[in-house]
Amino acid sequence: MLPKIDPTTTQSWGKLNELASEEYDIRGLLSDPTRVAKFSFDSKDFHFDFSKNEISDEILNTLITLAKECKLKEGIDAMFGGQNINETENRAVQHVALRADTNDLVKRELNKIRNFTTQLHNGTHKGYNDEQITDVVNIGIGGSDLGPKMVAHALRPYWKEITPHFISNVDAAQTVETLEKLNPATTLFIIASKTFTTQETITNAISARDWFLNNGGSQGDVSKHFVAVSTNEKAVNEFGISSTNMFEFWDWVGGRFSLWSAIGLSIACAVGYDHFESLLSGAREMDDHFHKTDFEKNLPVISALLGIWHNNFRRYDSMAILPYDHRLRYLPSYLQQVDMESNGKYIDRSGNEVSHQTGPIIWGEPGTNGQHAFYQLIHQGTKIIPCEFIGVVNPAHKHQDHHEKLLANFFAQSEALLAGKSKDQVKNEVGSDANDILKNSKVFKGNRPSTSILIKELNPHNLGKLISYYEHRVFTQGLIWNIFSFDQWGVELGKQLSKPILSEIKEGKEGIHDSSTTSLMRRYRDMRA
Ligand code: F6P
Repeated sequence: MLPKIDPTTTQSWGKLNELASEEYDIRGLLSDPTRVAKFSFDSKDFHFDFSKNEISDEILNTLITLAKECKLKEGIDAMFGGQNINETENRAVQHVALRADTNDLVKRELNKIRNFTTQLHNGTHKGYNDEQITDVVNIGIGGSDLGPKMVAHALRPYWKEITPHFISNVDAAQTVETLEKLNPATTLFIIASKTFTTQETITNAISARDWFLNNGGSQGDVSKHFVAVSTNEKAVNEFGISSTNMFEFWDWVGGRFSLWSAIGLSIACAVGYDHFESLLSGAREMDDHFHKTDFEKNLPVISALLGIWHNNFRRYDSMAILPYDHRLRYLPSYLQQVDMESNGKYIDRSGNEVSHQTGPIIWGEPGTNGQHAFYQLIHQGTKIIPCEFIGVVNPAHKHQDHHEKLLANFFAQSEALLAGKSKDQVKNEVGSDANDILKNSKVFKGNRPSTSILIKELNPHNLGKLISYYEHRVFTQGLIWNIFSFDQWGVELGKQLSKPILSEIKEGKEGIHDSSTTSLMRRYRDMRA
């Protein structure tokens, strides 16, 4: 069980509130020659620089005391010890066991993934025309899509002869667009759903099977072209996929933490089993670090505490994830689910409404694209947005000129957020005759917080390590906010309400709804061609 401590009742919470009422000039703080070394950390192939944030020794020490007062260590041990810390669903939370290389069930399933992907790659498992499988379509949504999609694209240089595709939305436009490029004889579908009841996934799976049967495949060929990944064997069988074509995982793996399980099958198909294993080993490295390192040097803990400082004390309610790497373009949307579905909660672990802020709004886009879209607001808007820049030092391509420009932009943006541009600088630039409107518009206040992460190379191991870093940051924050990070009751209501609405739409009936919803449904009916 996790401790149930209201963080606002701790001594350190009060002290942090006091500290937050002061002004912090990060530029001034950085004139201390020891600051960068003090607030930067190296961890094999990674460099984390937290020094451009409004923190001091006193703030960080008080945040660490907060973590101790909230019994973070006990919480970490409870998770790694396999306790049922997902209390509202009465389940353990064991995604760390998926990469620990100790659990027999996990090893059995990994072995199955290894054999299957080897057969795909060496051509033992062929399509119905005896042709090699060239395309894999993962049909899933949420955790059964975002993680595999993000990782598969981040590892693009490691792809073998199989191209991965991802269908998630119930909007058939995505299914049609994906399938129109594919040949059923050389396509394998992975139906990925923990519950195997998710409306979007089952609808898309049925449409994919229809497409397969209508374009050359026969019922007898389905077993060569459809496999399932799920915890629900009965539903998989009812769909028409036999247990031999099913890859299993377990209810102690949360959907948004499941890419390490058989849900990662599409990743292994794309990059090969060995690289999938390297991904797991990278996560394991960060797991060990998180489990065993003192909070003062613990990367997910420090990053989580900084997030709490921003969110609860400085009142910055969102955070931008800014990977300067095209291959990490799906990282922000992946982290939206990991973070917002985990910590977007207002009921605490005792069932009471919290009086403090919980999960921040997570958003972002890769650089440099974002610079030409929303950075205006980050630099001169009325909101302070803590930014997290991520850059890869050695790219997989040979275009050094592009890469130097990319990273120059990363460093320049973090410098600009910090330094800003003073009135005097503007005057020198535009001349003192320029009008005040222009001069004032060109001033940047600066002093805006950011964190920078540099990764030597974006290989499977390092990617696993990066993802695990974020998972543990989310866990740490949820633990301190005294909420349950591993359930997601907030997604249920919309699902429930869509059922009667769908029947009413299909049957042309009118149910009882609020006046706006009733009006929308009438408009929909009237405007239908
Ligand atoms: O609706 C939210 C959710 O339950 C997520 O938590 C989950 O990742 C997603 O739906 C997909 O669920 P499943 O894997 O069971 O289809």
